[in-house]
Amino acid sequence: MKIRMTEAGKVPVRTGGLGLFFEDINYSLDGGLYAEMLENRNFEAKDVTGEKDHFTVKQDGRYAWSGYPTEDAVALKVKDDRPLYVENPHYLRVETRQADAGIVNKAYDGIFCKAGMRYSLSFWARSYDYRAPVTVGVYDGEETVFEARTKLRADGKWRRFTFNVRAKADCACAQFRFTLSAPGTIHVDWFSLMPEDAVLGIFRRDLVEMLQELKPGFMRFPGGCIVEGNTLANRYLWKNSVGQTERRRQNWSRWAVHGACEENAFRTPYSHYGQTLGVGYYEYFLLCEYLGAKPLPVLSVGIACQYMSSEVVPADDPALETYIQEALDVVEFANGGKDTVWGRVRAEMGHPEPFGLEYLGIGNEQWETETNEFYKRFELFERRIHEKYPDLKIIGTVGPTVDSPSHTDAWAWTRKNLAENPAFVYASDEHFYVPPKWLYDNVNVYDHYPRTGLVYAGEYAAHVMEAGAGKFNAPESNVWEGALAEAAFMTGMERNADVVVMKSYAPLFGRLGYTQWSPDLIWFDGSSVYGSASYYVQKLYSLYTGDISYKVTTDAPMTFASATSRDDLTFVKVVNAGEETLTAEIEADFAFGELLRIVRMQGEPTDYNTMEEPLKLSPAEVAPTAPATVQLPPHSFQVLVFRK
Ligand code: AHR
Repeated sequence: MKIRMTEAGKVPVRTGGLGLFFEDINYSLDGGLYAEMLENRNFEAKDVTGEKDHFTVKQDGRYAWSGYPTEDAVALKVKDDRPLYVENPHYLRVETRQADAGIVNKAYDGIFCKAGMRYSLSFWARSYDYRAPVTVGVYDGEETVFEARTKLRADGKWRRFTFNVRAKADCACAQFRFTLSAPGTIHVDWFSLMPEDAVLGIFRRDLVEMLQELKPGFMRFPGGCIVEGNTLANRYLWKNSVGQTERRRQNWSRWAVHGACEENAFRTPYSHYGQTLGVGYYEYFLLCEYLGAKPLPVLSVGIACQYMSSEVVPADDPALETYIQEALDVVEFANGGKDTVWGRVRAEMGHPEPFGLEYLGIGNEQWETETNEFYKRFELFERRIHEKYPDLKIIGTVGPTVDSPSHTDAWAWTRKNLAENPAFVYASDEHFYVPPKWLYDNVNVYDHYPRTGLVYAGEYAAHVMEAGAGKFNAPESNVWEGALAEAAFMTGMERNADVVVMKSYAPLFGRLGYTQWSPDLIWFDGSSVYGSASYYVQKLYSLYTGDISYKVTTDAPMTFASATSRDDLTFVKVVNAGEETLTAEIEADFAFGELLRIVRMQGEPTDYNTMEEPLKLSPAEVAPTAPATVQLPPHSFQVLVFRK
């Protein structure tokens, strides 16, 4: 078979087009990327149940805490009078009935520590009459991994206690414990346990390293549906996410009720999933800077998640101004000088220099309905934002479902506006969670897109209906069958790099045992992380893409290819989704040199990576045997690197 590249019709590839979609779903932030190890450290947890338009949110500050050594040894009460901060008013009153009694924290799956690693440990406490020592530490059965002891002043004032401790041993699923050495009563709040290797003192290092390896061009945040909320009050309020950590008003997670229905009494296993906002907009911008990725914040347009709510602020309601202001102010927060209100907040948090925000997403995956007047409100947002920030690149949305009438309508509306105002949007976000067959059938879909209206493929993943053992919300859903179809579809994106200018797989992370949505790009638990097969497909696209993309054809069924070049290198990506090994000869109407490297992924369609076999599906180097001929094993994806 032949893979033929032609120069006529080549298009430029914009740099940084492959990025990250980050949403706090699947415990990817609290319990994930945020290196804080304790769960419900501030006693603000909520228990959320319900279904579309009917949610019940109950305060459940005791969640994740229990009495030690037994429940009977202590009397625990969540209180909110004379709180540390009114924004998060709940704290725990601990009354012990015996010496060395107190509380223990569930910490997701328990505490994982590395021998020799230092940890920063802290808590707030108040005592009116208790004067004996308190002890805080991590214990692995009979063994003390680390421990610190201090005395409180009995003056009725909140005080913060901090310690730097060193783990004496490795531990897994160990216990975080806080005890009073004598019977008595104190108030506690805001416990914290952070490993010293946390990136920027904030992020879990192993998870950040996985992101770094992808060399992302941009990072979208905070979602996803989280942007919109299950109610408007539950939307992501970025202004609540900046400033002192303890004063960031905790929010419940839209994902706490995902899948709630009558059969499960409207309760999911994740009913306490919340957003502490310990990682908020400031930390997000810091992470982008660290990764060298351009930030792409996405904001609400006054429409709650259309799958979970009918709530909207009407487009002509003055209340919409709050939402427009949130968008304007986030730009000021990122880029404004110290003499601006929000620029000053950023500077006081420690970053006087602007973050250089270029992109802003308006709305997540909104679609026009009879009641929400999405188009009208978006036009208003666009006008107001561009009046103040004419160079800002706005990312629009064409809804959640490619191939739907709402998608077609949204593109028609976008293109009409672009004809009148070329700066209307930089690109429009389209989402597709589809079966592999759809991806193969639509590899050429972008060949036929009009050249007005750039695409940000903001959320995509192959959903294999009979994945693994039929398991969803588990690594079995990330089978090679799906990743291979993604690789094939992406050849079409790459050949049309003049139209598809940005792309991000979704979702990014899944914590094992805490997942509401799969497949996911990266899986992790309390101590370890690994990439799915899709992760390595994305990585190969990120690392091996040039700045010019050629027209490419293949002449065998179920084979797909794209080619780009940079300087003297040409990168050919080729998928053989068939059952037979093929021999491919690569040809072009331009000089592309000789085969230098072959990077290959191959496997059985049902294979998937696991914590035990994290690299089962991962790129391997194969030695070239001819200048322009290569074997294409069945079910394989390869990057062929040629040098002139
Ligand atoms: O990625 C999971 C969800 O899929 C996102 O939150 C939403 O935008 C889409 O529906």
